[in-house]
Amino acid sequence: MTRTYIGQVIERRCTRRELLQSTLLSSLLPLASRAAGIDSAALDFKGIAGSQADRIILPEGYVYDAVIRWGDSLDPKVADMDAAGIPKGSLLKPEAASYQLQQFGSNCDAIHFFQLNTGLKSTRGVLCVNNEYTNDWLMYPGRKKVFGTDPQHVKEQIQQYHSIVEMSQAAQGISVLEVEKHQSRWRYLKTSRYNRRITPSTWMDIKGPARGNAWLKTNADPTGTKVRGTFANCAGGRTPWGTYLSAEENIQDYFGNFAGFSARKGIDPMIVAAHQRWRMWSDTSPYGWDVVDKRFDVSHEPNEAFRFGWIVEVDPLNPNKAPVKRTALGRFAHEAASPVVAANGQVAVYMGDDDKFEYVYKFVSSQHFDAKHPAANADLLDQGTLYAARFDADGRGEWLPLVYDPEGPLNAATGFRNQAEVLINARAAADVLGATMMDRPEDVEPNPLTGKVYIVCTRNESRADQNVQGSYGHRKIDLGPNAANPRGKNLWGHIIELTENNNDHTATKFSWEVLLMGGDAATESVPRTCFIGSPDNLGFDASGNLWIVTDGPQPSNNNNGCFVCPTTGDQRGVVKQFMSAPIGAEVCGCVFTPDNETLFLSIQHPGEEGSLSNLASHWPDGGDAVPRSTVIAVRKEDGGVIGA
Ligand code: FEO
Ligand code: CA
Ligand code: CA
Repeated sequence: MTRTYIGQVIERRCTRRELLQSTLLSSLLPLASRAAGIDSAALDFKGIAGSQADRIILPEGYVYDAVIRWGDSLDPKVADMDAAGIPKGSLLKPEAASYQLQQFGSNCDAIHFFQLNTGLKSTRGVLCVNNEYTNDWLMYPGRKKVFGTDPQHVKEQIQQYHSIVEMSQAAQGISVLEVEKHQSRWRYLKTSRYNRRITPSTWMDIKGPARGNAWLKTNADPTGTKVRGTFANCAGGRTPWGTYLSAEENIQDYFGNFAGFSARKGIDPMIVAAHQRWRMWSDTSPYGWDVVDKRFDVSHEPNEAFRFGWIVEVDPLNPNKAPVKRTALGRFAHEAASPVVAANGQVAVYMGDDDKFEYVYKFVSSQHFDAKHPAANADLLDQGTLYAARFDADGRGEWLPLVYDPEGPLNAATGFRNQAEVLINARAAADVLGATMMDRPEDVEPNPLTGKVYIVCTRNESRADQNVQGSYGHRKIDLGPNAANPRGKNLWGHIIELTENNNDHTATKFSWEVLLMGGDAATESVPRTCFIGSPDNLGFDASGNLWIVTDGPQPSNNNNGCFVCPTTGDQRGVVKQFMSAPIGAEVCGCVFTPDNETLFLSIQHPGEEGSLSNLASHWPDGGDAVPRSTVIAVRKEDGGVIGA
């Protein structure tokens, strides 16, 4: 396809969109949503202006509660983190890591709420929260912000303080905690029996088609059926049977010495190729876990990295149940996993692989959801078909099955000896099938009212303006625009709306269109531009409005925030800002309580650009405090439904 053709496709859609935005004409247009009788409820708040202030800003009449901060204890026997002592090295003390194992983890990301109380109002529940990574330069005095560029510096600090690795591991994974609304304010309960931390040390099961495969066997687990821990947990999802899905994303930043492994004689070239496709670090990794923990040294334990990059299922109400890695959902840099029950009872899970030129995926279960017997769904995610999406220039598309078949296309001739290898090396399988390379697909979420699916492409500054060959992810690829990723140097991201054929989540064909492009309409020549940058995660309120949280540059240089737009009606795709975050923070989470009176957001890595000697943010504690990632609960000061 040529650039001109893409331009024509967009032009046509733009014209229709501009018509829709005209109040005069919109009432005359046969909008599909109106025909279906669906219209988003009015968003009755005055949008805020963007800001560069080091605080949370909300519309008039809204307030927030800081529910839990990194380091707050989840166990009455364990003290809170000594946050004031961080610049003097409190986290370098050997005991810091053992305390962190019982404290809320760092860099909170996904949130899901599991209501405990009965009744219409949500007043008590369990939160599952991902703790994605650590900002080591804001934890350990002397650590420079040299992410991935100075392995010797990282190695030297860790060799001096081995406990850094234990601390950084203890801060990651998942935090499970009970929360309650007390005198109209949300707080967490330190004494709850539901509180627990799941970390890179927590044993869990490996289930699904790759369980027991040779590539999953290590010295610690010669069976390939169980694994210690989870880390790099980004966004997530919530199943219809009440479990939590946690997405393992940037696992490559913890494995090092790939060069040492690939230089060895007699190694399996297919394993080398699979690690190259994931872009493993050839030297010490940016976090340096491989310096002292040999399971993260690829030359020592070549298969350990295959045991990460999965979706992990957690039962929030059963603290004794081991989490499970669901290999049927594939292995890639999982951003999120959004399940939905199809009309026939099969369960679809929508997923994105957040790297440049990677793919959008969907899993469809073989078995049907059993609403009457929640326990019957316990292993529903172990059997089914994983698909990757191909977006065609005519506005249609197809889900391509990642299924091993001796007759091809996924067989020995293309680098796969069985279904387990297809799932472990899902990116390479999607390459073979010709799926569409996207601009960092992050969250993928179905609208619970309309069934339409929204795909966030956060940005891709490496997307070329023209169709030119280049390399990324150890592939020779066309770096240029395609129909679904139409902008070269995509600095601001975009959101795609996907409609399954017959609105059936098990369908293998779909149609799609761009809902909105990020950026500043004053300087961007692309149509449908909304004043937003780097959209990342999504949420839906009970009226089907699309809530968008951002992680990255904004067209105005303002801080990240939370935005919202209707997906139907004459305000479709018209974005208002609801919240502005403190300096340097991204916003994630974005989940409503069932009564829609509370919106939980993760304020992740405030002040990330600063250093311990020159802090860029002091949020949430103010004064000269070190900034801390925090879960907030946004609500109306006088109660009521958010946004309405
Ligand atoms: Fe962890 Fe793709 O954000
Ligand atoms: Ca994200
Ligand atoms: Ca992010």
